[in-house]
Amino acid sequence: MRSLLIVLSLTIISPMLLAQDIQLPAPQRTGGKAIFDTLAERQTDREITDADIDRQTLSDILWAAYGFNRDDKRTIPTSRNKQDIDLYVFLKEGVYQYDAKTNKLILKTAGDNRKGAGSQPFVHIAPINLLYVLDKSKNDDVGGPIACGCAIQSVYLVCASKDLACTVRTTIEKEAAKTLCKLTEKQVPTVGQTIGKKK
Ligand SMILES: Cc1cc2nc3c(=O)[nH]c(=O)nc-3n(C[C@H](O)[C@H](O)[C@H](O)COP(=O)(O)O)c2cc1C
Repeated sequence: MRSLLIVLSLTIISPMLLAQDIQLPAPQRTGGKAIFDTLAERQTDREITDADIDRQTLSDILWAAYGFNRDDKRTIPTSRNKQDIDLYVFLKEGVYQYDAKTNKLILKTAGDNRKGAGSQPFVHIAPINLLYVLDKSKNDDVGGPIACGCAIQSVYLVCASKDLACTVRTTIEKEAAKTLCKLTEKQVPTVGQTIGKKK
């Protein structure tokens, strides 16, 4: 019984207690394939493996999606610069919010909750699942969904540049996402995007 408790605490409880915010390495703002090559290669690929993706690549993907490329403006346009979306990340270690200013992942829920990112089976094993959330306290018109579309295409192009598999999904688990991401009444989970190494 005692050894069972030790095993349980090492395998389940300790990782949850150890889970914390993640400081990402600075994104690489140069290099990659030429833009027209990435456009020629952009595609949806659902054949995604469970292989890990390193933190540098994760940082690059998040910066392309919603990072700052000038003091207070982002890699994507937003309606009247409202910056009216939020970006969440489901990793094996937990569910996080991307804080672009500090380049940190802010822990929302510890543990492997990738089933809360979407119903399609590849979502549950992929190393990165993004969730785009509208912030209706900032803007309530079509600007938010359009900003999501801009971010989604940025990520598709980075994936084409880095030979990663990527799928955008409206099949998300809205209720689970609200709880796991600790969303407010004004935040609306809208679309997901799954990224991983190709088969
Ligand atoms: C708004 C939107 C929602 C989508 N939702 C899903 C989805 O829930 N699951 C999925 O596997 N693919 C989804 N897709 C991917 C499309 O099926 C895919 O883009 C389309 O078949 C064209 O293939 P391509 O991206 O390789 O050009 C979605 C695409 C868009 C633009």
